[in-house]
Amino acid sequence: MTKLSFSDYLDAVPKVELHLHIAGAIRPETLDDLAFLNELRLPKPATELYQFTTFYEFLDALRLAALALATPRDFARVAYECIEDLHRHGNVRHAEIFFNPHYFTPNGVAYPEIVDGLIEGLERAEHDFGVSSLLIACIDRSVCLPSEALQMLEWMAQYPRPKVVGIGLDGAERAGPPLLWVEAWRQAGRSGFRRTAHVCEDNQSLFEAPPTHYTQCRDALGCDRLDHGYNILADPAVVQRAVQDQVPFTMACWSGLTWNRAPRRQRIKAMYDAGLNITLGTDDPTIFGTTMGHSWRTVFADLGWRGAEARRLSLAGVEASWLPEARKAALRSEFVATLDALERDLDPEDRVVELAVTRG
Ligand code: ADE
Ligand code: ZN
Repeated sequence: MTKLSFSDYLDAVPKVELHLHIAGAIRPETLDDLAFLNELRLPKPATELYQFTTFYEFLDALRLAALALATPRDFARVAYECIEDLHRHGNVRHAEIFFNPHYFTPNGVAYPEIVDGLIEGLERAEHDFGVSSLLIACIDRSVCLPSEALQMLEWMAQYPRPKVVGIGLDGAERAGPPLLWVEAWRQAGRSGFRRTAHVCEDNQSLFEAPPTHYTQCRDALGCDRLDHGYNILADPAVVQRAVQDQVPFTMACWSGLTWNRAPRRQRIKAMYDAGLNITLGTDDPTIFGTTMGHSWRTVFADLGWRGAEARRLSLAGVEASWLPEARKAALRSEFVATLDALERDLDPEDRVVELAVTRG
C-alpha cells in the first residue's frame, strides 16, 4: 500500500478550530453577493477590500464586511459555508465561532434573528459534514462600551440557546485595559457563560498590548481561555505564570499582516517550547487568505514540526474546547483513533510539506 505523504497526513489530522470570527470568514464572492442583495455599497470588491496594510485597516474591513449581513438567511449561508471550508480544507471536526452582535444590529437585525440564522446554518453544516460547533458572542472593545457588553448579556439571557456558550472580547487593545470589562465578564460568569478575550496580540505594541493584560484577564475577568497571547513572551514572569496556569491560548497561525507572518510563527514556536498550552486557529480565514489546512502546512514547514507536534496540537484543541464533558470524551476517542490510523499510514521518509497557494 502506498504510504501517506506528510502533506496529506497534515491535512487529514483531525482538528478543532477555536479562533475564528464569522465576519472574517465570509467568502469574497459571498460578500459581493450579499452586499448587492442588501444594497450595501462596498467601496471596492471583496478581494480588494480584503487587502490592507495595517491592523486598524483590517478591523475596518472586517466591520464593513459584517454590514453585508442583514437577514437570518444571510447568517445561515455564511455559517454553512464557513463550516464547509473548515471541513474541506484541513479536516476540522469541531469549531467554536465568534460573532459580534453589535456589528449587525445597525442593519435592523435583532439578536434572536442573528443567532437563529447562524444556528440554522451550523446545524445544516453539521448534518452535511459531521462538524459540530458552538458560538461565542463577542464584544469589539474599539467600538462598544462596557454598557453594551451588559446589553449583550441581557440579550443572551432573554434568548438562551445551548449553542451560545460563552463571551469574547476582540478589537484593538489600545482601546483600554481588560479591567474596563470586569463588570460584564463577572456577570457572564454568574450567568454560567465561559469567558475568553483577545490579549497580548503581536500586531500591537507592548505599550498597547502588554503582558499585564494576561494577568488582568485571568485574575479580574475570570477567562479560562485566551486568544493570541504572543506579547507575554516579553515578560518571563508572566510566561512562567501561564505555564503554571496551563490556560489554553488559541493562536492564529497565519497573521493578516504580511510582515508579521514569519515572526508570529517564531513566537508560536517559542510559546510551544516554553510549555504553554497552545492551539492553532485561523482567526479571519477568508480575509487573511488562508484555510486551516494551509495554516497548518505553513507552520509545520517553517518550524520543522512532525507527527508528535501534530498529535499534541490536535488533542490540545479537543481539551481546550467548551464542549460538555461527554461530547468532549467522544471527540477525544475519535481523534485518538484517527491519529493512530494516520500515523500507521504515514511515510516516515517523507519530510516535505507542499505549500498550497492562497491569496496573499
Ligand atoms: N477581530 C477579528 N480578528 C481580530 C484580531 N485578530 N484581533 C482583534 N480583533 C479581531
Ligand atoms: Zn481573533
